[in-house]
Amino acid sequence: MISLSSVSKRFDGKRQVIALDAVDLQIDKGEMVSLVGPSGSGKSTLLNLIGGLDRPSEGDIRIDGTLLRGINDDELTRIRRDKIGFIFQFFNLLPTLSCLENVALPLHLRGWPAAKINDRSRELLSLVKLDNRLEHLPEELSGGERQRVAIARAFRLSPDPASRRANGQSGFEHRRGDSDPDPRAARTAAGHGPDRDA
Ligand SMILES: Nc1ncnc2c1ncn2[C@@H]1O[C@H](COP(=O)(O)OP(=O)(O)O)[C@@H](O)[C@H]1O
Ligand SMILES: [Mg+2]
Repeated sequence: MISLSSVSKRFDGKRQVIALDAVDLQIDKGEMVSLVGPSGSGKSTLLNLIGGLDRPSEGDIRIDGTLLRGINDDELTRIRRDKIGFIFQFFNLLPTLSCLENVALPLHLRGWPAAKINDRSRELLSLVKLDNRLEHLPEELSGGERQRVAIARAFRLSPDPASRRANGQSGFEHRRGDSDPDPRAARTAAGHGPDRDA
């Protein structure tokens, strides 16, 4: 669960901007939210704060009960790694890693065993219909295929494969409520994440 209480963000440059002014927001587990507003209205700023990429000037942000204000940068990095899936507007895939390696990397950082990482990464890429591109580099993919790799990487965490096997459904199906994974739906569900210019 994500909860924001009176969150403000001020940019104190030569010209001060109040990008967010006392925002209250609660997003429950399983809820899908689109953030809509004109350019410059603070969408990216809000996503950067929720994703722990930046800190608010005032107010409290909690991710699954953890108050982000109370933790140091190392702990914040851990929360980003374990709780947040980003799909950046320009995908931010690592150019020298294959599709499989790009999806696997955050799982390596979490310390998963190699066999589990391999299974999960292949499963995720299969869900976005990229089984036939596992060894390709990002530059060898179309824009849509790159985006699907980024989606697979962002969806790495939910839910645990063991629990999925127990109820006979993939996480993707479970989230979407049908059995035909459509990467466009996943992208809509996840938003496009922090970016520089959207
Ligand atoms: N790093 C920054 N330094 C100074 N001002 C910023 C910075 N980032 C954003 N802003 C200001 O905050 C406002 C909201 O920006 P942003 O969240 O990127 O808007 P959106 O994503 O909705 O288009 C902008 O009008 C901009 O002037
Ligand atoms: Mg933006």
